Amino acid sequence: MAYQNLISEIKENILYITINREKALNALNKDTLTELADVIAFANKTEQVRGVILTGAGEKAFVAGADIKEFSGYNGEQGEDLAKRGQDLVFNAIENSSKPFIAAINGFALGGGLELAMACHMRIASDNAKLGLPEVTLGLIPGYGGTQRLTQLVGKGKAIEMITTATMVTASDAEKIGLVNDVVPQADLISKAEEILNVIKQRAPLAISAAIKSVIAAVNNGDGYLTEIKEFGKCFETADFKEGVTAFVEKRKANFTGK
Ligand code: CAA
Repeated sequence: MAYQNLISEIKENILYITINREKALNALNKDTLTELADVIAFANKTEQVRGVILTGAGEKAFVAGADIKEFSGYNGEQGEDLAKRGQDLVFNAIENSSKPFIAAINGFALGGGLELAMACHMRIASDNAKLGLPEVTLGLIPGYGGTQRLTQLVGKGKAIEMITTATMVTASDAEKIGLVNDVVPQADLISKAEEILNVIKQRAPLAISAAIKSVIAAVNNGDGYLTEIKEFGKCFETADFKEGVTAFVEKRKANFTGK
């Protein structure tokens, strides 16, 4: 797939997406969001893709936010439309994906950049990363789901503190408050994300997507227990369930097919 603002490639069933606007610290302009929507849809429909690693080009920034330069002249209606389209096509699309997404946060993750990382199912940060939602310094608030997902991840008090003061947290503080799963030296960032996905790749694909869907339902729909019951039931209809149980009984490694 050829994109103007992204680099995307599949290696060993992992789709690597790199946001490639290094000079603008990988800020999310409209074209980048359109391309992200396209590559997310591709990940969902491509059986070969078993997991996704999302990162930013260079060593300074994951994503420094929405592209502020595109905002000038916007009115309320346009602002609302921007947030709704972005949330539907990119941020919610990542969270609702059947494939596990890992954000490899290689530097600044600010505003829409932190929102993008928080939409992913897991976050690994390099030790130089700084994370924050500085929108109030621009007279705005987060618009790509940041008020909701930060609250889910770190709780109401810390979320309100971070959003209203617009202060950045270091990677190590982000780990302490549950905002990132792990912190590693920058050189090890991608291999740490690969390590996690390589474990997930050995598991039953339909069970992975059922598990993600059920966990996300816990925080988003208010019907998490019901989602879990239904997804649990659906797993019994899969060939991989039969294979998993047979392999256990036969004391061998399961050979899952995603069916
Ligand atoms: N949008 C557009 N361009 C951006 C950008 C952004 N969010 N962040 C950085 N850039 C550009 C800068 O304009 C600069 O470009 P030029 O060289 O052409 O001037 C280049 O990237 C390098 O940036 P700096 O010179 O500012 O680098 P620095 O090291 O001095 O500072 C920084 C780094 C602290 C990350 C600083 O760039 C910064 O504060 N960026 C903005 C962060 C921000 O406010 N993000 C929130 C955006 S609003 C949002 O995301 C809304 C939403 O929720 C939907």
